[in-house]
Amino acid sequence: MWNIWRGIRLVALSLVLIISIGLLTVWPTSEAQAEYGDVVINNYSSEADMRPPVFPHWFHRIRFRCKVCHADLGFEFKAGGNDISMVKIFEGEYCGACHNGEIAWSVENCSLCHSGNVDAKTDVHNSTLDMLVAPPQSVKKKDAPPQPDKNKKAGKP
Ligand code: HEC
Ligand code: HEC
Ligand code: HEC
Repeated sequence: MWNIWRGIRLVALSLVLIISIGLLTVWPTSEAQAEYGDVVINNYSSEADMRPPVFPHWFHRIRFRCKVCHADLGFEFKAGGNDISMVKIFEGEYCGACHNGEIAWSVENCSLCHSGNVDAKTDVHNSTLDMLVAPPQSVKKKDAPPQPDKNKKAGKP
């Protein structure tokens, strides 16, 4: 008798576990994952039916000098300002300079990079530039450069 109950409890526990893991993977979690400075890069991903990659900038900044990426690897200082493709990454350019199984885990871990919400636009989550650039209303309309619509930001509450 005791063994049967133990068995049932085990099955019930496993079910709960499986369901929670299922929910975690199915539910969109982009807000929970979006951190200060994260960059969503989406020049091509949505067109290719792929979730856009999220680049955790601070995670990388802590580990490498700016120069490594912005001088040596040629990343422009602009969200979406680089023409990155998977072919280039496979050939060791851009993210592929490190995500090659040596410096960091390799490219077959698609979903670790392609984790943005479906159709999330290229954007920086609360970027430093956003805070340094004068808000649109303090600039004369006709002189103002085109401003992104702050309210439409992906990943913003
Ligand atoms: C591991 C590589 C890497 C390192 C290190 C790095 N960056 Fe970046 N940075 C990127 C990438 C990738 C982007 C996004 C480019 C894109 O969207 O095409 C970016 C974007 C930016 C942007 C524009 C987006 C924004 O947040 O406004 C700025 C400014 C920037 N980086 C500054 C820095 C500074 C300053 C440092 C050093 C403290 C640094 N980066 C270190 C890779 C890096
Ligand atoms: C200069 C080297 C370098 C470049 C360039 C680089 N990464 Fe990374 N990345 C790393 C390292 C190192 C880690 C940590 C790996 C580990 O924990 O095993 C990492 C981890 C990550 C993580 C996981 C962060 C976490 O919270 O665990 C993501 C996502 C990621 N990189 C995306 C990208 C994307 C997208 C690009 C290109 C736009 C890129 N990386 C370019 C070195 C780099
Ligand atoms: C290290 C991060 C990283 C990993 C891992 C990664 N990608 Fe990408 N991928 C990117 C970046 C950055 C772009 C450029 C995104 C954009 O501009 O839309 C991109 C673009 C793409 C695109 C659209 C452009 C193109 O080149 O066709 C597809 C499709 C794609 N990736 C599929 C994959 C698949 C499939 C995998 C796993 C085998 C994968 N990616 C793994 C970072 C990554």
